[in-house]
Amino acid sequence: MRTPFVAGNWKMNKTVEEARLLVFEMARELREIKGVEKVLCPPFTALLAVAALLEGTDIGLGAQNMHWEEKGAFTGETSPLMVAEFCRYVILGHSERRAYFGETDETVNKKVGATRTCGLIPILCVGETLAENEAGRTTEVVSRQVREGLKGLEAGFTSGIVIAYEPVWAIGTGRASSGENANAVVQDVIRKTLTEMYREEVSQAVRVLYGGSVTASDAAEFFSQPDIDGALVGGASLRVDEFVAITRATMK
Ligand code: 13P
Repeated sequence: MRTPFVAGNWKMNKTVEEARLLVFEMARELREIKGVEKVLCPPFTALLAVAALLEGTDIGLGAQNMHWEEKGAFTGETSPLMVAEFCRYVILGHSERRAYFGETDETVNKKVGATRTCGLIPILCVGETLAENEAGRTTEVVSRQVREGLKGLEAGFTSGIVIAYEPVWAIGTGRASSGENANAVVQDVIRKTLTEMYREEVSQAVRVLYGGSVTASDAAEFFSQPDIDGALVGGASLRVDEFVAITRATMK
């Protein structure tokens, strides 16, 4: 029912030339993998070049952030309309943006809301820190991020979005969550919160990804979980063989 989904978050990596080289090699192989939605999220400066290379393929393009206002005096920011010129997806509320750039549930909510009018599909990131995890606050934190991130948004819109569960302690640490543990959070916290906010059909329609040190060797463990529909991949998305193997692993 839910199409598997794999997105590569390149973070602040790759110049235009490097991005071209990576996509040139990766796209050839990714095109052969059917039945899964594949998305690359390069930095803003490489979007145009990557968009050109992906034209005519079934590989989608995503940005890693955007502002919520349509235009105006916001030096250094990029508007939803500008992102939508190139992209179909946008990562919002990534924990690195929450931790280093002052993003809050409130600003993330404004950004998610702003995707409605320009046809972008948000990939809303949620996840607890190590301290929160160790204090037994995972449920409280993740359900709050889902609730606040989607506050005021209607069921019809929410059914089409993507949520990524990325425990902060698993990001870039080489210490991925276990498939079982991640599935439990997705099922008992994320989907449960969606059911409480909307209804069961909405909760079952939303695609939920796992992110945090996903590699080719553990991808299948996540994709075999009933409530996990794919992955948001960081470091491993910068390596052709790894990212291609992870994408292949979605074919359960
Ligand atoms: P890593 O896969 O490098 O742990 O990063 C995960 C992530 O933050 C994806 O958004």
